[in-house]
Amino acid sequence: MQIVRGIEELRRAREALEGSVGFVPTMGALHQGHLTLIKRSTGENDHTIVSIFVNPTQFLPGEDLDSYPRREEADRRICEIAGVDILFMPEVSSVYGKDEVTLKAPEYLGYILEGSRRPGHFDGVVQVVMKLFNLTRPDRAYFGKKDAQQLVILQKMVKDLFLPLKLVPVETVREDDGLALSSRNVYLSPTERAEALAISRSLKRASRLVMAGELSSEAIKQEMYAIMKALDVEYVEIVDRSFRPLEKVKIQDTIILVAARVGRTRLIDNLWI
Ligand code: PAJ
Repeated sequence: MQIVRGIEELRRAREALEGSVGFVPTMGALHQGHLTLIKRSTGENDHTIVSIFVNPTQFLPGEDLDSYPRREEADRRICEIAGVDILFMPEVSSVYGKDEVTLKAPEYLGYILEGSRRPGHFDGVVQVVMKLFNLTRPDRAYFGKKDAQQLVILQKMVKDLFLPLKLVPVETVREDDGLALSSRNVYLSPTERAEALAISRSLKRASRLVMAGELSSEAIKQEMYAIMKALDVEYVEIVDRSFRPLEKVKIQDTIILVAARVGRTRLIDNLWI
């Protein structure tokens, strides 16, 4: 595995790869969720590039940019064992210059739900992912359904900007008890971790309700809020694949999204129906 930090070095290493290339962008502190994306890529492509870059432009002032978990040595070993060809770990100063040309997330998709709580967050995501796509020139890029809104915005970016690559959505990986894996789970105390389970339980309940024929968004949301009553819930929304709110669940075209604070940690989870 080549560890690459510089832009020119990455260009050269990419150039030398023959055959198909899969790309998995991450912010590090790799867990089983990331590893699932990486394995999917190594299984489907001749070569895999992983990036680890805690992207400052997608953090808002007061968010956890400085305390975001960094575990370079462990991450490096995980990538090595997983069969990654190139691990790209750039410095902020090589990725960003001054007064740049910038991309902007869509007015609607980029500024509702996560985007309304974290305005500008998705502008930073599209900016960095576009840069990373241009550097790695992948045939396929892998993203988790755990970050549903990010995935849908990036799918739109690929379509709107005619990018010559395929985005591959990957199912959310969970702990045995249902908690969706996240690099931010390390912030949870044991008590908070137990409380956080209400989020995935509420989604499981929603799934059972839908299977039993309950399609009313209002009824489903009420039951979900009841399960999460001990948490500080920011939103529960039931939307279609374009993120338009739905009064009734549409089978094959619904995402149920939750954001909640557990102690000082903000968690998101969702269910695709
Ligand atoms: P990060 O939070 O490190 O996530 C990297 C990728 O792993 C994303 O596509 C995310 O959806 C996926 N992922 C995270 N938890 C997962 C889980 N439990 N199951 C499946 N996939 C999971 O998302 C980002 O980084 C950044 O915004 C990035 C795209 C790298 C741009 O900076």
